[in-house]
Amino acid sequence: MDLRKPVRKAVIPVAGNGTRFLPATKAMPKEMLTVVDRPVVQYAVDEARQAGIEHIVFVTSRNKHSIEDHFDDTPELLASLERAGKTRMADELRELLPPAGSVSFTRQQAPLGLGHAVWCARDLIGDEPFALLLPDMLCYGARGCVAGLIDLYTAAGGNVLGVEQCEPEEVSSYGIVARGENVAHGFAVTGMVEKPKPAEAPSNFYLNGRYILQPEIFDILATQPRGAGNEIQLTDAMLTLSGRQPFHAHPYEGRTFDCGSKLGFIEANVAFALARADLGEAVYASVADLIRKHDTASRAA
Ligand code: UTP
Repeated sequence: MDLRKPVRKAVIPVAGNGTRFLPATKAMPKEMLTVVDRPVVQYAVDEARQAGIEHIVFVTSRNKHSIEDHFDDTPELLASLERAGKTRMADELRELLPPAGSVSFTRQQAPLGLGHAVWCARDLIGDEPFALLLPDMLCYGARGCVAGLIDLYTAAGGNVLGVEQCEPEEVSSYGIVARGENVAHGFAVTGMVEKPKPAEAPSNFYLNGRYILQPEIFDILATQPRGAGNEIQLTDAMLTLSGRQPFHAHPYEGRTFDCGSKLGFIEANVAFALARADLGEAVYASVADLIRKHDTASRAA
């Protein structure tokens, strides 16, 4: 078994219901919620392409048409921007558009869980390793997380998981990995546990929604029974695969915001806006002012 084949494809699952964001997600996919001026799913696609990924498979569902449209060409809009002299914006839109034929869509007919969503991509991925990006986990840093995963994969092969450290009391919100010996610029994963109690967590390294997985995961997912939340869980299948193949972890140097939660989404908007040359100063002044007024009002109350 060759566990070092190049990683050419990525899976981005976008078929969830986004219930934590209702009512915003009644008619709009949560992956299309915007952080500053682009939908969260755009950041995942950019991160994958910057890491050298050549083909992206979206696992989609009913009511998610806007995601397909977003990654299609918009000739009328481009022509109208050109006519209006807004050539920079037109060029930016062209740059963001994945090349023709480099994006595929497949349907998850019912939201049976992340493991099931990944399994739905099996035919389009075939017999090769792939990157998996959960788009609502938004990576913020000088470099995208998938690029770092691919570096570790190139050095060590196998399966690679993006991880980050959380506060000890937060472990029960995440998938947590157990840390083994150092491998290249990461470490061997010796165990995984989904949402442990703080006292039972093997570490504070949580899965940040970025993975490189070998295609054997599909065979395991095919018969994976439902787990936590009555959903087919990817972590359960990865645990089985870790008995047969090595798993490594890459600690991400940046920070991941969970845009599936309201707080994470708001934090991401502030962080990304503060980092923007065209907005940062104004947003800083505005947020500082809001906080000052909020403090004054609460003292007066
Ligand atoms: P989440 O669990 O964060 O998404 O899955 P969700 O189920 O839509 O969110 P809530 O809890 O109801 O608010 C992470 C990613 O996996 C996708 C989601 O679309 C999201 O991008 N997903 C999840 C699927 O594609 N299918 C599923 O069955 C579950």
